[in-house]
Amino acid sequence: MVTHSAPFIVGTDLGKTFGYGHAAIHALREVNIEIHRGDFTVVVGPSGSGKSTLLNIVGGMDTATAGSLTVGDRHLTALNARELTDYRRTSVGFVFQFYNLVPNLTAVENVALAAALVMPRADATQLAGDLLDQVGLQDRKDQFPRHLSGGEMQRVAIARALAKKPGVLLCDEPSGALDSVTGAHILAQLQRTARDTQTAVVVVTHDQSLAPAADHLIVLGDGRVVEDRRHDNPPLLEEPALT
Ligand SMILES: Nc1ncnc2c1ncn2[C@@H]1O[C@H](COP(=O)(O)OP(=O)(O)O)[C@@H](O)[C@H]1O
Ligand SMILES: [Mg+2]
Repeated sequence: MVTHSAPFIVGTDLGKTFGYGHAAIHALREVNIEIHRGDFTVVVGPSGSGKSTLLNIVGGMDTATAGSLTVGDRHLTALNARELTDYRRTSVGFVFQFYNLVPNLTAVENVALAAALVMPRADATQLAGDLLDQVGLQDRKDQFPRHLSGGEMQRVAIARALAKKPGVLLCDEPSGALDSVTGAHILAQLQRTARDTQTAVVVVTHDQSLAPAADHLIVLGDGRVVEDRRHDNPPLLEEPALT
C-alpha cells in the first residue's frame, strides 16, 4: 500500500516474560509495532525469537506483561478476560499451521459456523459459499475435511477466518505443513486478501524468502524488533496452478 492513515495495530514497549526469577524467559522485550489495514505484514525471525508470542498477544490469546497494545479502538492491554474472549470470537481471524477444521462438518459448514458468530444463520451460509468461491473452492464446498488436500483445508481455514470480516487476520506459519508449491499458493492468497479486503494480514514465518513480498517486514531476534521496514511496491506473489 502507498498511502497510510492511522495504524490499526499499535504496540508500545510490549514485553512478555514467562516464569520468574532465574527461570524467567523474556519472549518479547520493548517491542514497538505499527501495523496497517490493507498491508501484507510479514514477521520473520529464527525459531524462538518471539513471533508466535507476538501474534498470540495481538490475537488476544495471551497477554503482554509490559507495555500497551491497541487494535482498532480496543485497548487490549486493558480488557478483562470476558472482553478479550469477545474480541477473539468476533474481531480476529486466525490461520494456523494445522487447519483445525471440524472433521464432521463440510467445508461450507465449517466456514458458516464461524460466520454465524457475527451474523444470522442464513446470511452466514450465504457468505460461507461466497468466501469458498473466493478461495477457489467452488467445487469442494460440500466435502468433509478428510476428503480435502492440505492446501484445500488451508483455503477453507482462510475462508473461515475471513467469515467474521475481521479487521486483522493472524497467520502463524500458514504454509508450514504444505509442500512448497501449495504453500506458495496460500501465501499469494493471503497477500491478495490484504489488498482486496483491506484487512491487516499478519503472517509469521521462519521462511526468509517471503520477506520481499511484504508491504511491511518486521524481523524479530531474541524477542526484539531488529528490523522494521516498508516496501513500496512489493512484487505480487504468483498463484501457481494447483494440480
Ligand atoms: N507458554 C510458554 N511458557 C514458557 N516459555 C514460552 C512459552 N511460550 C513461548 N515460550 C518461550 O518464549 C520464546 C519465544 O517463543 P515463540 O514466540 O514461540 O517463538 P517463535 O514463534 O519465534 O518460534 C521461546 O524461548 C519459547 O521457548
Ligand atoms: Mg512460532
